[in-house]
Amino acid sequence: VALPSSPPPLYPSFYAPAPKDILPGLKFPPGFKFGVATAAYQVEGATKNEGKGPTLWDWNSRQPGAVFDNTTGMSNSFSFSGVVDFYTGDIVDLQYYLYKEVANPSWCLPHALIDVGRMSSELLRSASMPIPFPSISWARILPFGTKDSPINQAGLKHYSNLIDYHIAHGVEPVVTLFHWDTPLAMSAYYGGFTSPEVVEDFINYAKIVFAAYKGRVKTWYTFNEPRVFCMGTGLYPFNMSLASGVNASTAPYQCSYNLIKAHTGAVKAFREMRIPGEIALKSDDFIGIPWRSNSTDDALAVERHAAFRIGVFADPLYKTGDWPKIMTDTLPPEYLPRFTEQEKKDNLASADFFAIDAYREQFVAAPLDVGGVSGCVHNTAHPLWPECSSAVFFDSNAGWAAGISPDPLSEVWLQATPNTIRSFLKRLHERWPTNKLYISEFGFVEPFEELRTEMFRITEDVARTDYFMTYLGQVLLSIHEDRVPIAGAFAWSMVDNAEWNSGTSAKFGIQHVNYTTLERTYKRSALSLAEFFGAHLQH
Ligand code: NOJ
Repeated sequence: VALPSSPPPLYPSFYAPAPKDILPGLKFPPGFKFGVATAAYQVEGATKNEGKGPTLWDWNSRQPGAVFDNTTGMSNSFSFSGVVDFYTGDIVDLQYYLYKEVANPSWCLPHALIDVGRMSSELLRSASMPIPFPSISWARILPFGTKDSPINQAGLKHYSNLIDYHIAHGVEPVVTLFHWDTPLAMSAYYGGFTSPEVVEDFINYAKIVFAAYKGRVKTWYTFNEPRVFCMGTGLYPFNMSLASGVNASTAPYQCSYNLIKAHTGAVKAFREMRIPGEIALKSDDFIGIPWRSNSTDDALAVERHAAFRIGVFADPLYKTGDWPKIMTDTLPPEYLPRFTEQEKKDNLASADFFAIDAYREQFVAAPLDVGGVSGCVHNTAHPLWPECSSAVFFDSNAGWAAGISPDPLSEVWLQATPNTIRSFLKRLHERWPTNKLYISEFGFVEPFEELRTEMFRITEDVARTDYFMTYLGQVLLSIHEDRVPIAGAFAWSMVDNAEWNSGTSAKFGIQHVNYTTLERTYKRSALSLAEFFGAHLQH
């Protein structure tokens, strides 16, 4: 996508000012969790410190071309600022150290660097803001990942300290066990999640973590966005394996099957060990709205889309115990392993809530028939993927998480995503009913905010602020008008960070990070979120 040569004006007239208090009478239900999410690889840095083993992403980020803009060849639609400070996760936010104040007076951190302290500062605490726990990095606990890997006590201790530090600051840690950073050794030994060997190894890792942090964590996720991890497009080599002999066509489905078995096994252990709290995994993506309301083809495209992108994990865990029928009708067992009756039961008993990373809703059209819109949002790397449907990026031609379009001054720049979120949540709840739904991530990439930051010190991220305010207004309506049992919402992300293939060029943070000094500054959206939740949370 060709970016415009000059940034949009600072306060374009078509931005409505962020409403101070929309829907004043409506409150979130008591106990509603509002948080800001992060993930280990994306914020921690310190990738070689304190006994951590290398991960697939430590390796991948070193491959020329894998991360924008470590090459001339990479075309990456997520690179909005055009500036990438770090390609690898080696430093990024150095959150491994900068989450806290340190006692060593020779390295007294200014408050501007301290993540947990900043998020729990008076202003934000008044709104129950924080919950900025990163995922746990498997390779910090078990450097080789496997059952026979030595346990790295320094890693165990680190997360123990981190949890305690959160609690001491009145911040509830919500923990993800796996956010895509497969220990490299497992990938090389047996192909990571493409091999059934991963199941026991993950359960072993999960048990160690449960035993260590039992009672201090109330809400756990086993896996982050397994659909992206196993089936993501060519841009995302999560399922890429360093082991030989992995079949690229079957790998996404083997990965999905193994991952569900690892999840159910870990949840079984969680229950057997009587760990207090709740556990599930985080799904992602959108259902889709038929592009043409009277088109059967578009309606079918939506069904394929919903099944292959949400149903693939949601049907087994929340509906039938089994894969969506569209999948089993399409994919023979050599591709998609079938569940036994026992496994189906285990699947259905493996989630205490439904969590969805809900950034957006989009129109979906049957392929090649949408007047000028072409290109299938499907996994071209995998020939049996039948979902070929053109998802129409009506809110964005360039990236799924930003309001950017090739013409940023056009009126379609914003708003479509947050305005459809209420209808998305309703349809999600109709398809996969649940007693408790978390919006485990929602967020926005704003182009050009960097320039404003330099001028004003506080980043005037008007578009992101507008996204959050509109989105959360829709969530309130969803709770009150549609009776969707939303129990929490987690903004992505606490700080700018390493956005996988985009490096640090795509910024999702509600805090800006200066990648020379690592100093954090609040963006306008952080303050507006605090204000919004201050007005709408019930304490
Ligand atoms: C989903 C992923 O869980 C997270 O790692 C990523 O940074 C955000 N979405 C934004 O792309």
